[in-house]
Amino acid sequence: MIENQWYAIAPEKIVPPGKMTGLKRLGKELLIFQTTDKQWGCIEDLCSHRGVRLSVGKLKDDGCVECPFHGLRFDASGTCTRIPANGINAPVDDRYRVRSYAIRVQYGIIYVFYGDKEKAVGEVPFFTDFLDESFVYSEIADTWETHYSRAIENQLDVVHLPFVHHNTIGRGNKTLVHGPKTVVIEDTIITSADNEVDQGQKQRKPQECEINPDLQLRFKYPNLWINIIAKKVKVFVYFAPVDDEQVILYLRFYHKVTPFKMINRLIAYFGKYANLVIERQDKRVVVTQRPKRTQLRMGEKLIQGDQPIVVYRKLREELIAASKGNG
Ligand code: FES
Ligand SMILES: [Fe+2]
Repeated sequence: MIENQWYAIAPEKIVPPGKMTGLKRLGKELLIFQTTDKQWGCIEDLCSHRGVRLSVGKLKDDGCVECPFHGLRFDASGTCTRIPANGINAPVDDRYRVRSYAIRVQYGIIYVFYGDKEKAVGEVPFFTDFLDESFVYSEIADTWETHYSRAIENQLDVVHLPFVHHNTIGRGNKTLVHGPKTVVIEDTIITSADNEVDQGQKQRKPQECEINPDLQLRFKYPNLWINIIAKKVKVFVYFAPVDDEQVILYLRFYHKVTPFKMINRLIAYFGKYANLVIERQDKRVVVTQRPKRTQLRMGEKLIQGDQPIVVYRKLREELIAASKGNG
């Protein structure tokens, strides 16, 4: 993971008010809970007493999680607030604390801050310039047995289109890959495909290409991607790392093609399945890539068309070096 980043890890709807759920993300066993008054908490899913999973316990009315074994309670800061066996008036030593994580819930997504809680300031990442309340969306999840870096790189790869997607979005045998031009604006990589049917013409360099304003891919660190297909149609994916070997892709199909939200909802519902077909074409190939986790210098023999992937690797490595994470 890259340290000190807000990662989008799961949809908000998996934890309704008054409920909690244990899930593995970012290489950690996490317990996410939401009190009835909509206060969110994220703590390590492991009781400090004798190692029971807190997720099989209960969320109590005081907003604390109670371990099912001997009843120790923990609040959202990870502080142990009571040890019943010692008596309700006995002070609780700080050593019973469990690890806690900063959590935010926005845009229907649960974000967890991987790193120092004190540094969990600023906005959570999202494509606010492109997605607003006028759109409707429908979401679907798919688990890939690979490191999240491979899944992200695939979504920045314009070279694979006529091969992996020869009968869907890559129809037309446009195997010649011009550029692609790739630009970076703050924490966002922008690129767009400029592929053509090969009739022997010369491949253009990235600097001879343009970003297509109406059809482009954007990636925002650490794990968000958007395909801007048209003004009224976008595909958005967040790549929730489970651990170094597994990632869950949450795919949203956004659009506003008619003025009627009810109709748009129906279209979005079916639209996400069309996108899932394309995503499964990717998955079949990408999960075979070895090693699963990518690095800037890993001995792969890259080509000009891999430019967006090189940019992704470079920036990720810089962020890791600056944060001392492990990628
Ligand atoms: S193991 Fe959790 S209270 Fe004992
Ligand atoms: Fe693809």
